[in-house]
Amino acid sequence: TQVEKGGYKHFMAKEIAEQPVVLGDALRHYLKADHINLPEELDFSNIERLTLVACGTAFYACSVAKYWFESLAGLPCEIDVASEFRYREPPLPKNSFALFVSQSGETADTLAALRYCKGKVAHTVAVVNVPTSSIAREADLALPILAGIEVGVASTKAFSCQLLALAVMALKAGRDRGHLSAAQAAAHMDTLRALPGLMNAALATSDEIARLAAQLAEAQDILFLGRGAMYPLALEGALKLKEISYIHAEGYASGELKHGPIALIDRTVPVIVMAPHDRLFDKTVSNMQEVMARHGKVLLVTDAKGATTAAEGTWAHLRMPEVAEPFAPILYALPAQLLAYHTAIAKGTDVDQPRNLAKSVTVE
Ligand code: G6P
Repeated sequence: TQVEKGGYKHFMAKEIAEQPVVLGDALRHYLKADHINLPEELDFSNIERLTLVACGTAFYACSVAKYWFESLAGLPCEIDVASEFRYREPPLPKNSFALFVSQSGETADTLAALRYCKGKVAHTVAVVNVPTSSIAREADLALPILAGIEVGVASTKAFSCQLLALAVMALKAGRDRGHLSAAQAAAHMDTLRALPGLMNAALATSDEIARLAAQLAEAQDILFLGRGAMYPLALEGALKLKEISYIHAEGYASGELKHGPIALIDRTVPVIVMAPHDRLFDKTVSNMQEVMARHGKVLLVTDAKGATTAAEGTWAHLRMPEVAEPFAPILYALPAQLLAYHTAIAKGTDVDQPRNLAKSVTVE
């Protein structure tokens, strides 16, 4: 199929902007009134463990999902990058599921990891964007993420749609295991259904982000901080930025700041803090203040409540709409992507075809 840019300068910009629509499609597919539309075989009731394996951005989607499966379903989760997992010879309980998340469904290491798990676990499950792909065909079950064709090398809409599919699975696991009441699950479904609308509001910060990006483009190193499920989102924000702007970026768990990266902080180092006003907000703010005390340039990405309490003294802040826990990472993916996109534009790099990177890595 020929896919076009439809008026956008880059596929990446188009794919970022499409997220409210494709997420809406995925929501309509997976949530039918109060019913979760997932195969019956995917019954988490007596499962001892969930293993999630992927590469790159898909791995960060798994890393976010670990927080969800643990908190919403009380299900022990193991996550690993496929290139490590496949050679570790990890023991796998028979009574477990193994999930392989891949946009292309062709990543060589992820496919090898899937082959390793076949026959060792109750079900292998593929979470893919390309339903005809090798990973989809070889897994016992394949779930589509419904993002539509993604052309930009740096994954954007596939990431948010992977998160959505994983969130819905975590809700099913929560119900199957009696960890969530019907009312709690319904409230979480409402949160998910509100996301496309909130994403439109997040996209409206694009011009503001472009202005900040002009300055971020001058940096040599940029840190991303987050706590809880926002920690893997910080990792994804750093990956996105380095992939397309070639600025060295690292994601860190806010609480780990004092165990190393704080040594790097000075006036030249922007620190992007991804922090909705949630249960852990105050802790993240105190980490942020440690950065400001050392003259680090803080960009706080938060909501109205967070901005009111903590924006003072920061270099800049961005306001996202409020989103109920624990699904904020799906929304905050958008400012992370826009920060990478606009910084790359400011640097004049090739956004859709970054040097040395491939859309799909089918060799080891
Ligand atoms: C490459 C791409 C990334 C992607 C990763 C995994 O590195 O550049 O955007 O996240 O592969 O690809 P997959 O198709 O398995 O999700």
